[in-house]
Amino acid sequence: MGKESILVRGNRTLSGEVKISGAKNSALKLMAASILGQGESIIQNVPDISDIAIMSDVLRRLGATVTRTDHSLTIDTQELDSYSTPYELVSRMRASISVLGPLIGRFGQAKVAMPGGCQIGARKIDMHLVGLEALGVSFDVDHGTLIATTPEGLKGSQVMLEFPSVGATENMLMAAVVAEGTTVIDNAAREPEIVDLCNMLCEMGAKIDGGGSVSIEIEGVPLEDLHPCTHTTIGDRIEAGTFLAGGALTGGPVTVQGIDPDYLRMAIMKLKAMGCDIACGDDYVTVTRSRPLMPADIQTLPHPGFPTDLQAQFMLLATLAEGTSVITENVFENRFMFASELMRMGADIAIEDHHAIVHGGQTLQGAPVSSTDLRAGAALVLAGIVAEGYTTIYDVEHIDRGYEDYVGKLRSLGADVSRAESNVRA
Ligand code: UD1
Repeated sequence: MGKESILVRGNRTLSGEVKISGAKNSALKLMAASILGQGESIIQNVPDISDIAIMSDVLRRLGATVTRTDHSLTIDTQELDSYSTPYELVSRMRASISVLGPLIGRFGQAKVAMPGGCQIGARKIDMHLVGLEALGVSFDVDHGTLIATTPEGLKGSQVMLEFPSVGATENMLMAAVVAEGTTVIDNAAREPEIVDLCNMLCEMGAKIDGGGSVSIEIEGVPLEDLHPCTHTTIGDRIEAGTFLAGGALTGGPVTVQGIDPDYLRMAIMKLKAMGCDIACGDDYVTVTRSRPLMPADIQTLPHPGFPTDLQAQFMLLATLAEGTSVITENVFENRFMFASELMRMGADIAIEDHHAIVHGGQTLQGAPVSSTDLRAGAALVLAGIVAEGYTTIYDVEHIDRGYEDYVGKLRSLGADVSRAESNVRA
């Protein structure tokens, strides 16, 4: 079977209500955390996307059984007997590195191939290593595989992260919960997905205080005190933000259902600044726009700042706004590859270092484009929806990594999009 592409007919308006799936970036880590439960955990509201299938394979390779029923995963880690994750899996998904902390927690050792992942910058793991070393972990690298050992066991420690890295905070959390004594992670990541992970770990018997704040305190407990649990994944704020951008782009109204609006405060602030009207309830957000789009300056930052995973979607909005916007990417290097694809559709964007200067007011024209990463792919489909004529998006396997039934959900909002087999590029 050849690769698939997405074909979009332009000049459409999105309107209606869309159910948001569980957060990819939460579910992946909750699955890793189940290693510490040593029994049958159930994780609910798990999106049906390819990254989750890869993490299921990672866990199976370690000896777990993983079964999916609709949007629930049952993960039995009782018989887990390996602490080694091979390159063939880690190279398919960088987030496989999040088994490092729980494997160290469970076995006192781990072997994890060095990660690959999205082509967005260097994406090092030095902070993961520095943080875990402070807990007593020794690292060695052998032919591309990271070998972790704990010669004197895991010991609680006070660690200041150089940058509030999401992945480093998570790996530290999942080792520190079973370290001897108290660990404090300062300058910790504050993303909602961190809070979700802390909640699940606490449901398993861990003692964690301050999840979601800059300083997290963990009182280690013996591994035997941790047990499996049933946990429901929070809604995906990036999927929600993507559909809200779609509504803002075409006027809406678009309602995203199944998401805590608090997770999207900065994105909502920018949508309002760009001329949109927003209505929120406990678990939904509605966007409507009846005025022309206005430019906005946006800089990506760790949560609660503007999320880097919504940068491409908002660059698209800036392209259609009347005036000039400056978008600054502070989280990842090399995350403007989307701009060159959008320029092929008629956008006027100048890249200067980590700033994109977007001269708005452009009319986009349909074109063959390539999905350079997950979020860029999703934004290109939205670009096709407002463009004149037809757009074909290639390399859509990136989109399948993180968006459950993206085409189906967009069609339910009125888009003219379909998937097609594409052996040959236009
Ligand atoms: C997670 C999310 C990703 C999101 C990102 C930032 C998952 C699976 N992915 O990625 O979608 O865009 O958070 O919100 O949850 N860094 C280092 N050394 C390290 C760790 C990170 O230099 O040891 C750098 C990275 O290269 C990057 C920045 O820090 O430039 C942020 O990385 P981090 O917060 O760790 O993101 P991820 O956990 O990889």
